[in-house]
Amino acid sequence: MKIIKAKDYKDMSRKAANIISAQVILYPNSVLGLATGSSPIGTYEQLVEWFNKGDVDFSCVRTVNLDEYRGLDGSNEQSYRHFMNEHLFDLVNIEKSKTFVPDGLAENPVEECKRYDALIESLGGIDLQLLGIGHNGHIGFNEPSEAFEKTTHLVDLKPETIVANTRFFESADAVPKQAYTMGIKSIMQAKKIVLIVSSEDKADILKKALYGPVTPEVPGSILQLHPDLTVVTCGI
Ligand code: GLP
Repeated sequence: MKIIKAKDYKDMSRKAANIISAQVILYPNSVLGLATGSSPIGTYEQLVEWFNKGDVDFSCVRTVNLDEYRGLDGSNEQSYRHFMNEHLFDLVNIEKSKTFVPDGLAENPVEECKRYDALIESLGGIDLQLLGIGHNGHIGFNEPSEAFEKTTHLVDLKPETIVANTRFFESADAVPKQAYTMGIKSIMQAKKIVLIVSSEDKADILKKALYGPVTPEVPGSILQLHPDLTVVTCGI
């Protein structure tokens, strides 16, 4: 595991974007696993800036996102599809048809999970996975539980996750109570993982995840077992 302590959020974002752009420059048809939340916004901004300068070309890149709220259409402003379009996909030369996010409106959740896993497999897995971490240690929406869930699944969001994500919605009631998330196996099979953590209030959970016991009670703790994990932090 490599840990990089950045000066501030901008520096963390630049360092994470550096790793991603190096991947894309070296391997133009990479499969990038992407994340949402406030942590990666600066990373995407930096990538867009470098794209505008002509330094990075996304035309052959494929992407798979970690998760999506169940019940939200991609055009809904709170959906993760909308987030990705707004912060990255609409701003660079990526082909939209090569960007994948679970379908929040899928009629059959079991089929949707199978479809998403088959899709990831058909892409040949993930080359580089960008991750944030929740206050309870969740990665994607893999919430604390009794066992690691290997494959894509539908999750009942924990009350603390609903509270944490209320800031993006009008009220706690408006936050969907379920979400689709990529499973731990797809995340752990990514060739490279970049975890970004930018707020002081995540210092405790980060310590547990990186140095505590590997347990599904702290889903991010599984990352200790990944052979190519880079953690970029600021303010911690
Ligand atoms: C959400 C996402 C996660 C993300 C987490 C932390 O729950 N599903 O993928 O890592 O939020 O978000 P933030 O970066 O805003 O703290």
